[in-house]
Amino acid sequence: MKLQHSTWPEVEAYLGELKAILIPIGSTEQHGPTGMIGTDILCPEIVAERMAEHTRILIGPSLGVGMAQHHLAFPGSISLRPSTLIRVLADVVESLAGQGFTHFFFLNGHGGNIATVQAAFSEIWAGSSFAGAASPLRLRLHNWFQGERVLALSRELFGDGEGSHATPSEISLVLSGYPQDRRSVTLHPEQAPTGPIHDAADFRRRHPDGRMGARSALATPGHGLRLREAATADALDAWKRFVTL
Ligand code: NI
Repeated sequence: MKLQHSTWPEVEAYLGELKAILIPIGSTEQHGPTGMIGTDILCPEIVAERMAEHTRILIGPSLGVGMAQHHLAFPGSISLRPSTLIRVLADVVESLAGQGFTHFFFLNGHGGNIATVQAAFSEIWAGSSFAGAASPLRLRLHNWFQGERVLALSRELFGDGEGSHATPSEISLVLSGYPQDRRSVTLHPEQAPTGPIHDAADFRRRHPDGRMGARSALATPGHGLRLREAATADALDAWKRFVTL
């Protein structure tokens, strides 16, 4: 059940059964010459839709712009500041909390969001904690790419070719939903360089085609279908535990 496709009476009826919502969160940033700029939000959207085929679940609006500061030297990348994302998350949670939602499950597609999302959770809880009040809110970040089934399958499929940005796993998962959008571009070197992350100009100098450590050309729609099932199983386990907390 998608919030954006629902009416308010339908949402009110859902709240009678369940006070939990899943919100896909990602980023809008370059993913090398073969990965789509929306990779990090398309992945959690694909997994969320699959989850909803297995269990009753309300999917909130995607938060598709996140922490992409070090990708800004590549055209098309868009970033928020961490302080902006913290405010956005607090406003989204507090909007829905006022209507009775208590459990917020953020299904995340971007490693760079993790620190800021956790900071936002602390900021949200600070309101009640400093007032000495008990908050009914339960906030959870689940990174689809760090589930145990996904990690095992990525290792099996790609080994050390997985890398850390524009990975064959994330590009495969997108291709599972959009197989017609596969790019045929030859990548040099086949495996991208690794290195530290500083600002945007430094990132582009160290990683000229945008990839980090990844052999992105290993991505296929078939691998993506297997990763989609692994990611869905990991996220469903996490969701089912979370809604009972
Ligand atoms: Ni990514």
